[in-house]
Amino acid sequence: MKQLKFIYDIYEWYISRNLKPENLPKHIAIIMDGNRRYTKIMGNMEVIDGHKKGVSTLEKVMDWSIELGIEIITVYAFSTENFKRPPKEVEGLMKLFQKNFEDVAKNPKIHKNEVRIKAVGNLNLLPEYVREAIRTAEESTAHYHKKHVNFAIGYDGRMEIIDAIKKISKEVKENKLDINEINEDIVNRNLYTAGLDDPNLIIRTSGEERLSGFLLWQSSYSELYFCDSLWPELRKVDFLRALRSYQERERRFGI
Ligand code: FPP
Repeated sequence: MKQLKFIYDIYEWYISRNLKPENLPKHIAIIMDGNRRYTKIMGNMEVIDGHKKGVSTLEKVMDWSIELGIEIITVYAFSTENFKRPPKEVEGLMKLFQKNFEDVAKNPKIHKNEVRIKAVGNLNLLPEYVREAIRTAEESTAHYHKKHVNFAIGYDGRMEIIDAIKKISKEVKENKLDINEINEDIVNRNLYTAGLDDPNLIIRTSGEERLSGFLLWQSSYSELYFCDSLWPELRKVDFLRALRSYQERERRFGI
């Protein structure tokens, strides 16, 4: 076991040393997939414990990102589809969100690194106690601008676009906006992610290769990286390999 750790340490060092700090993605978005499959391979484990293990992976990813100088992380914490899961799992997740948003507000690492927390999604779909915990986390970090961690929660990319269309149509109907003035900028300003940069890199774990409604508008020019590791098992080498792959690709924006 010790020998394996030694090999991974060397591998981490090897990849890190070849990464160009000036060409790291500014914004990484992550689809944290595979928590339930992890509980299955672990045998006698409750589904909620897989999600709790997922929270520790997220903490590690936040540490690695701060260490590497990544400015923005956006994670897919809960889609609108996820509401269709068994009520016991949904309730367990809601309690986990409440606890973690409350903890974030008190976490010294968040304040030391000036990390601003934001939730993006249709928050009206969430129970009031989760919304309250989100408010606490957002308000206690609202004055920070160095780093950003965004949680897509109660989120669906198509619903986000529909909501944006409704808001824009209302402005047109009320003669506050001319239809010919509608452009990318206006759409951006009406999305849940208004004011946030588009992701440069999107990582999905667990071997699934699709976006599942995550940041549909915002991902037009994002590099996509899929890895086989289940989210609770993600290692630093997997994260570094995603960054290496990002740097190896030529970024041409269709030109
Ligand atoms: C996907 O795995 C994971 C989720 C639906 C929940 C992710 C949430 C967390 C890790 C909690 C983080 C949140 C905060 C606020 C700290 P899955 O359940 O779809 O697994 P499967 O693909 O194996 O079924």
